[in-house]
Amino acid sequence: MDKELQGKVALITGSARGLGKAIAIELATKGADIIINDIPPMAEVAEQTVAELKAMGVNAKFYPGFVNNEEDVNRMAAEVGQVDILVNNAGINRDGHMRKSNKPDWDAVIDVNLTGPFLCSKAFVPLMAARGWGRIINISSYVGRTGVFGTPYYAASKAGLIGLTKEVAIEFAKKGVTVNALAPGYILTEMMLKYPQEYQDSITAKIPCGYWAKPEDIAYWAGVCASPRAHYMTGAVIDCNGGWYM
Ligand SMILES: NC(=O)c1ccc[n+]([C@@H]2O[C@H](COP(=O)([O-])OP(=O)(O)OC[C@H]3O[C@@H](n4cnc5c(N)ncnc54)[C@H](O)[C@@H]3O)[C@@H](O)[C@H]2O)c1
Repeated sequence: MDKELQGKVALITGSARGLGKAIAIELATKGADIIINDIPPMAEVAEQTVAELKAMGVNAKFYPGFVNNEEDVNRMAAEVGQVDILVNNAGINRDGHMRKSNKPDWDAVIDVNLTGPFLCSKAFVPLMAARGWGRIINISSYVGRTGVFGTPYYAASKAGLIGLTKEVAIEFAKKGVTVNALAPGYILTEMMLKYPQEYQDSITAKIPCGYWAKPEDIAYWAGVCASPRAHYMTGAVIDCNGGWYM
C-alpha cells in the first residue's frame, strides 16, 4: 500500500467507534498519524481504537472534547499542533417530525452536526492555509440532499454542512486546502443498528445496490479526498450511497 499520507496528521472527530474509526484506520493505512477525538464518556472505547492504530505502526492519541464546545475545540487545537487533515465526522440524530419537533432537539442536533464542523474548521484551517496544504472532509448525509420524513433537525444540519463545505472550499481554494463532503447512505453502525430489524429491512428494500454500506466502504472515499493527488477537487459532495441519491 502506498504510504502517501506519511508525515501528515489527521484529526477525526467522533472517531472512537463507527464511521470515524473506520476513517482513522483508512488514513492510518495510508501512513497518517491519527488524533482520535470523542466525548469524554467514550474514553475507554477511544483508547482501544488508539491501541489498534498504534499496532498499525502509526502515532495515535485520544483527545476528549465536545466539538460543539468552543473552549474544548480551541484547547484541542492548542495542544495538538499540526493537523493536515480534519475530518468533521462527529454527528448525532434525533427523530421527530415537524408536528412533534421541539427546539431543544433542534439545538442539540444543529450544535453537534453543524456548529461542531464550523468550530473545528475555524480552529484548524488557518494553520493549514499558512502551511499551504490541507484537507477538510465533512461527513454529511444523503439526508441533506433529499430530506427524509421525520428528520427535520438532521436534514437541516446535513444540508447546512454542504453549504459550509462549499463556502470554506471557495475561501481557501488558493491556499492549497481542499474542502469536500461525503453524503453516505445507510451505514452499518450503532447510529442505525438501534432501529428495529423490520425498519432496517424496509430500508434495504429501497437501496438500489440492495445492501447497506460497511463503514470501510465510506471510509475509502475519505481516503480519496485526503490524498495529495486529489488536489483538483474542492467543494464537491461525494454521493456514496449505493445509488439512493443520484
Ligand atoms: N450510520 C449511517 O447510516 C450514516 C449515514 C450517513 C451519515 N452518517 C454520519 O456519519 C457520522 C458518523 O456516524 P456513525 O454512524 O459512525 O455514528 P456513531 O453514533 O456510531 O458515531 C458517532 C460518534 O460521534 C461521537 N460524538 C457525538 N457527539 C459528539 C460531540 N459533541 N463531540 C465529539 N464527538 C461526538 C459519538 O460519541 C460517537 O462515537 C455522523 O456524522 C453521521 O451523521 C451516518
